[in-house]
Amino acid sequence: MDLLFKGGTIVTATGSFEADLAVDKEKIVAIGKNLDIKADKSVDVSGKLILPGAIDAHTHMQMPFGGTVSADSYLSGSRAAVCGGVTTIFDYPVQHKGESILGLINSKKEICENDACSDYAFHCCITDLNGGAILDEMEEAVKEGITSFKCFLVYKKEGMMVDDGMLATLLLRAKELGAMINVHAENPDLIDLRTANYLKEGKTSAWYHYMSRPEFVEAEADKRVVHWASHLKTPVYIVHMADKEGLMACIKAKSEGEEIYVETCPQYLEFTSDVYKREDGRNFVCSPPMKGEESREAIWNAIKAGFIDTVATDHCPFQSYEKDWGKDDFTKIPNGCAGVENLYPYMLDAANRGVISFERAVELCSTNPAKIFGCKNKGAIEVGKDADIVIYDKEKDFKVSVSNMHSDYDHTIWEGKELHGYPIQTYLRGNLVYDNGEFVGKPGMGKFVKRERR
Ligand code: URP
Ligand code: ZN
Ligand code: ZN
Repeated sequence: MDLLFKGGTIVTATGSFEADLAVDKEKIVAIGKNLDIKADKSVDVSGKLILPGAIDAHTHMQMPFGGTVSADSYLSGSRAAVCGGVTTIFDYPVQHKGESILGLINSKKEICENDACSDYAFHCCITDLNGGAILDEMEEAVKEGITSFKCFLVYKKEGMMVDDGMLATLLLRAKELGAMINVHAENPDLIDLRTANYLKEGKTSAWYHYMSRPEFVEAEADKRVVHWASHLKTPVYIVHMADKEGLMACIKAKSEGEEIYVETCPQYLEFTSDVYKREDGRNFVCSPPMKGEESREAIWNAIKAGFIDTVATDHCPFQSYEKDWGKDDFTKIPNGCAGVENLYPYMLDAANRGVISFERAVELCSTNPAKIFGCKNKGAIEVGKDADIVIYDKEKDFKVSVSNMHSDYDHTIWEGKELHGYPIQTYLRGNLVYDNGEFVGKPGMGKFVKRERR
C-alpha cells in the first residue's frame, strides 16, 4: 500500500463521516474505520477534512485574446490550480477560422504532456464549421475523450462568435454524439450598439464596460439559449451565469425537466458592478461583467436551492500593464480575471461560515463537474476513484495576496480576501503536489482526462 490517511473526516456530496483512507497505485483502494493496513507512508489527518480534488471546469491558459495572451501558461496555471486544491482543469482551446479542431486539441495536448501540474481536459471552442467538416471531426474528438464543445455568442469582431443557426446545428450534432455544448451567452449586437454610443459620448471608463453589457444584455442570450435547447430537446451548459433574469429562465426550464446546466463563478458571488467605479476597476473587467446586488443575491440563493450545478472560475488573468491599455478606453482592456487558485478555498470558506454545507461545496466544485462532463474516475472520495485528495484545515486563516499565489500574474482581484479555513495539502492521484504553501509537484505530472460520452 502506498499511502494511508488516518483519522480524518471524509466529505462527499451526500454526507461526511470519520474514516481512514488507503491509496495504492494512484487509486483510492479502501475507506473504513481504523483500517489495519501497512502503508509506505502514513499521514495523520485527525481534525482535518478529506475532500475530493476540485475540478475547475472553466479556464483559459495561455489564450490569445484581447491583443495579447492570458498571463498563465499551462504550467503556471495548473501549478496554481493544485495549490488551491484543484486537481483537474478544463481548458478552452479556441479554433481559428478554417482550423481543424483535432489538430488544435493535439497541439494543446502536446504542451500539457510536458507542462501540466494538474490533470487536464479540454472543451473545444468551435468558431467555424469549415463547410461541415467540423461536424465529422466532432465525432473523432468525442472518441478521443473530448465530449464538450463551446459556442461564444459574443466576440464578433474577434472572429469567435457563433450565430443562432450554427448554435442550433451544434446543439443537435452534440446530442447525436452524446456530447455537450457549453455557451457564453450575451447579445453581441446590443453590446456593439451600446459600446459605440458610449464611445461617441466620451464615456470610456471601466464602468462603461458594465453599462455596455448590463443585466438585460446577458438575459436575452440566456433566454435564447434556453429557448433553443428546450425546443430542440438538447442538453446545454451555460457558462459563467451572472444575471438574475437569465438565471430565472434557466431555473424555470430546469423545473420543467429540460436538461440545462448552469455554471457560475466566485467573482459573481463576491463582487457587484460597483467594482467598475473603483480606481482599479479595469482589473475587474471580464465578460460577462459583475452585475448588481440583486443578481449576486439571486445566484447565491440558486446555489443554496440546488439550481446552480457547478462553480468554476473562468480563470483568464492579464498583467497590469495590459489592463492599463484600457485606462482611457474600456474597449481596450483585455477581458478576464484570475481565480483558479481561489475557487475551492472561496467555496469552502462559505461552507465553514455556514452559508452552504461542505457537502454542497464538494458537489458544486468536484462531483457535479465530474458527472456532467464524464470524468468517471474523478469527483468523489470513493473506492476505485483517482486519489485526487485535498486535506483541509478548518481553523487555518489565510489572506489572499498576489505574493502567496502560485500563478504568473502580477495582480489579483482577490487581493486582501480573508478566508477562514484553507487547504493544507493536495494529492494528485496519490502524489503530494501541494504542501502548506509550497508547490511540491513537477510539471508533466498531469495526465489527460479522457472523458466518456453521455
Ligand atoms: O472575460 C472573460 N471571461 N474572458 C475569457 C473568455 C470568456 O469569455 O470566457
Ligand atoms: Zn466566456
Ligand atoms: Zn471563459
